Amino acid sequence: MRHSAFASRRASERWKNGVRPLMVTGLRNPRRTGLPVGGRFRSGGLAQVSRSRAQDGTMNEIEKRLQEALDQARQALAGVTTAAQLEECRIRFMGRKGEITGLLKSMGSVPPEERPQVGRTANRVKNEIESAFAAAEAALARTDTTAVRLDVTLPGRQRRIGFSHPLARTMDDAVAIFRRMGFVVADGPDLETVYHNFDALNTPPEHPSRDVADTFYLADGRCLRTQTSPVQIRVMESQPPPVRIICPGRCYRRDTPDATHSMNFHQIEGLYVDRHVSLADLKGVLAEFARELLGPDVKIRFRPHFFPFTEPSIEYDFSCIICGDKGCGVCKHSGWLEISGAGMVDPAVFTAVGYDPETWTGYAFGMGIERIAMIRHAINDIRLLYENDVRFLAQF
Ligand code: DAH
Repeated sequence: MRHSAFASRRASERWKNGVRPLMVTGLRNPRRTGLPVGGRFRSGGLAQVSRSRAQDGTMNEIEKRLQEALDQARQALAGVTTAAQLEECRIRFMGRKGEITGLLKSMGSVPPEERPQVGRTANRVKNEIESAFAAAEAALARTDTTAVRLDVTLPGRQRRIGFSHPLARTMDDAVAIFRRMGFVVADGPDLETVYHNFDALNTPPEHPSRDVADTFYLADGRCLRTQTSPVQIRVMESQPPPVRIICPGRCYRRDTPDATHSMNFHQIEGLYVDRHVSLADLKGVLAEFARELLGPDVKIRFRPHFFPFTEPSIEYDFSCIICGDKGCGVCKHSGWLEISGAGMVDPAVFTAVGYDPETWTGYAFGMGIERIAMIRHAINDIRLLYENDVRFLAQF
């Protein structure tokens, strides 16, 4: 809008100065102006051209008109101030139906004896008009304000800044909540010994999770950890109680990828060891975690379960925040979302790390981060979190 208003203001100023505004195309178009159609140079007029010879004898009619057209073109070009006007000129004189083009086409009707001379004039006019256009174009490039690229009034270009992956954000948020409750972050290797991943966690030799079909083993006997629980062992091996840690990290299992399984995924492990720790403490911490993460209305429930490294063991669920417990596709119409496992640390685990099970008590828990991120953002396929399609990720 701004530009067209600008252009028409320019055109009217030029009217005032007595210059015909080249922008007003209708004036030159005989069909639009109602002027008689069929100018001097229309094909019907060619015979006429050669009949009405120039009076001075030195130039025939075509040459005269070529010269006239050249003069007119030069005059018109002198008044050009915009690229649009330049284009108008080009069409008027040099376009397919342009004035000069028409004259050049009519060369065929010139009597043979006059052709060499008319041809020379035609070539000269052609060259001169071409250089006149080139000069006008160059002049325009220096002065045309509409061609200026820098508009300081335009808003600056926005650069897209990066953002955290929804998984990283869920992990960070979970870690922050536990840290506020006094847990310290501990770390362990992704490449684990079978001892730390299974044996010290009281996992019997025949336990199915040890199977090569479930766990990635290396030739040297180590494995990619299948859970973050071995970090519990490493921490307890390295320090005396009390212990209050969380261990966020990657885990690996030989699962076939589908909507809810991925060969690598993330967990947060928690471990609290002290005197007189009870299941009620565990429940309180997990309920508080759920409220902090998902809002004050979320509820949690414990269900009995079995893990080799806890006794008793439980699984815990959050009430479904997506449907508000009413039942939906995500909670499989149960109103509850399974988050992960927990329990009271098995005395056999304490024995394995050299803690006296008669003195020390503790709880442990482990939860899947993908699952929490999927619930939080109502994502129905875990693979979306790993495809790294920015169109998907940018929604969160
Ligand atoms: N490691 C378990 C798993 O991957 C989760 C788990 C259950 C961790 C009970 C614990 C726990 O610390 O006490 O399924």
